[in-house]
Amino acid sequence: MPKYRDKPIQSFNIFEAEEEVLALDKEISIHDRLYYQNDAPEIDDASYDRLRRRLEGLVQRFPELTKMSPTLQRVGTTPSPSFSKVTHREPMLSLANAFDDADVSDFLSRVGRFLSLDSAQGIEIVAEPKIDGVSASLRYEKGLFVVGATRGDGTVGEDITDNLRTIKDIPQSLTGDFPEALEIRGEIYMSKAAFYELNSTQMESNSKVFANPRNAAAGSLRQLDPTITASRKLNFFAYSWGEISELKADNQSQFLEMLSKWGFAVNPLTRVCNTLQDILLHYREIERQRLELPYDIDGVVYKLNRLEFQKRLGNVSRAPRWAIAHKFPAQQIETVLEDIDIQVGRTGVLTPVARLTPVNVGGVIVSNASLHNEDEIKRKDIRIGDTVIIQRAGDVIPQVVEVVLHKRTEFNKPFNFPAICPSCGGESMRVQGEAARRCLAGLACKDQAIERLKHFVSRNAFDIDGLGEKQIQLFWDDGLISSPADIYRLQDRREELEKKDGLGQRSVDNIITAIEKSRVIKLERLIYGLGIPQIGQATARLLAMNYGTLSKLRSALISAANKRSIEYHDLISIDQIGENVADDIVIFFQDKTNLDMLSDLENQLDITNYESLVIEPTKVTGKVIVFTGTLKKMGRAEAKSLAESLGAKVVGSVSNKTDFVVAGGEAGSKATKAEKLGVTILTEEEWLKLIT
Ligand code: IVH
Repeated sequence: MPKYRDKPIQSFNIFEAEEEVLALDKEISIHDRLYYQNDAPEIDDASYDRLRRRLEGLVQRFPELTKMSPTLQRVGTTPSPSFSKVTHREPMLSLANAFDDADVSDFLSRVGRFLSLDSAQGIEIVAEPKIDGVSASLRYEKGLFVVGATRGDGTVGEDITDNLRTIKDIPQSLTGDFPEALEIRGEIYMSKAAFYELNSTQMESNSKVFANPRNAAAGSLRQLDPTITASRKLNFFAYSWGEISELKADNQSQFLEMLSKWGFAVNPLTRVCNTLQDILLHYREIERQRLELPYDIDGVVYKLNRLEFQKRLGNVSRAPRWAIAHKFPAQQIETVLEDIDIQVGRTGVLTPVARLTPVNVGGVIVSNASLHNEDEIKRKDIRIGDTVIIQRAGDVIPQVVEVVLHKRTEFNKPFNFPAICPSCGGESMRVQGEAARRCLAGLACKDQAIERLKHFVSRNAFDIDGLGEKQIQLFWDDGLISSPADIYRLQDRREELEKKDGLGQRSVDNIITAIEKSRVIKLERLIYGLGIPQIGQATARLLAMNYGTLSKLRSALISAANKRSIEYHDLISIDQIGENVADDIVIFFQDKTNLDMLSDLENQLDITNYESLVIEPTKVTGKVIVFTGTLKKMGRAEAKSLAESLGAKVVGSVSNKTDFVVAGGEAGSKATKAEKLGVTILTEEEWLKLIT
């Protein structure tokens, strides 16, 4: 404890004050660093504020000491607790998964059908290990590394250039013959050895221990101070590209060779395969080597080698049609199920959660597992006290596979699923046709309200940093927030907030700043943030795209309650929105509490309408098209996606709204019907001529 720490400010002389200012300054800058750069504060905000107030009090009495404190000179320019954002010029996609051989075989047939090939046998596939790390995009201009970003939500990531510059596998400048503008995509990872070494030093210094190498890599990249990232041993494998000014490769394997020539590390276990058998043999071989590899992998990625095929196949939603990740099977282990808790989710669903005796499954300590629902517990006859087999696969929540029956004792009684909500004590109900039991209290149920608020502030929704579960819980308990709009009124209650335990002026400032920033919000984020059941980011974007503004969306979806209305018809005509999802949307917009919540919220926000990319109209924009018969040049799925990319709408049956029927070989009743209705019938050649 510094010499003068307990001395009242009024009784300092200038010499003592100088010593105390220096001591305070040093302490505060240590805490700033722990807080802002290490994400690991060691004192609560109230104690931090006390140090700061004392320093400010002293220099108020002795203004000539201000210059002794670098911390005070920094006031007003608190280091930003986050990275700046980078919009990816080409989205960073994710991959669809295959869990067994049959899924891989289906993938090959699907691709063959799409490309209208006689057989998918013989299509070249590049098999690359799926590195279990964090993806990054690196931009090079004239061969120089200029900016590097995380994947983020695939569209916008975080600028982590300075941190990436510390990684030795990432060249600062390229060698060989490289394109002028180039974005390289790949995986940052930490070797198993570096991970163990890091955890042991973390343990020695009583710092955070990481659960696995991937978390350690992610945590190391998220450092605001690049010298910390530099002290962590990170590596990078390159495997793909984003924007590129010129691509001199015809296939993925050539591209991988070019990557090596430019100076990147490419995974050595990559192989070109020609048949399903070849692919599966390679998969088994990599699986066999898995534990001996110096880094973690969680599967094998298969990519169509020919880039022309990749281009024709394109993407569905957020994943390419031309690639798939073949995941390794889950790891299983035995443990004891100590208890069953019921959690209330955002949409009121009551989910049973198994509390387990903690066990290590493939490097991760597991102490909870999802039991899904009432029927699942009955079906597997899971009882408290049972010894169970659990499994974990990648990011998936651990699951209880089965009970080890011979270890069951007479004390283990069948589990009675509660009929009332454990959070609000209200009635719960099983909706017909659903496995889930739901609490019906909506926002009146504490857990539901809190889950909705947590979803509202989450990264892909309103992205309000600093307003985490703990704060939401605290503010909800004190009646400060019960609905999203209340978040925007928190600024009027600053004093109350600052008095809260563990919160101080600085935290409150950060929270309010983050809240204010989130007032300007894109329509698709707002829709996602509402937490409508089954509406994820992709569907939210589709809704934003189709309705454009909140008022159009709201009035259409309110009218859509009538299933005979044009609005309902429009809703289910949106590609990828089926009746089941439509029902959830309609139910949400029928609920008066939701509508009141939304208009209250709307008053607090500045909503950015959906900005559609301006697409040049084509000859088929807005036309309704039916494909029938066998096409020669491409499969049905490719024809559909091509037509849609040109602005046409592809439907399955002919009516008088149909503009063209494209008839391939052996076209049957649809062509006859088109003739009857006087709809224009095109041959495949005529159709291709029209669109090219
Ligand atoms: S290709 C459009 N190749 O897996 C191509 N991804 O689950 C998208 N990953 O986000 C990625 N190793 O972070 C590709 N050899 C590999 C990979 C790989 C690891 C990661 C990547 C991606 C995630 C998808």
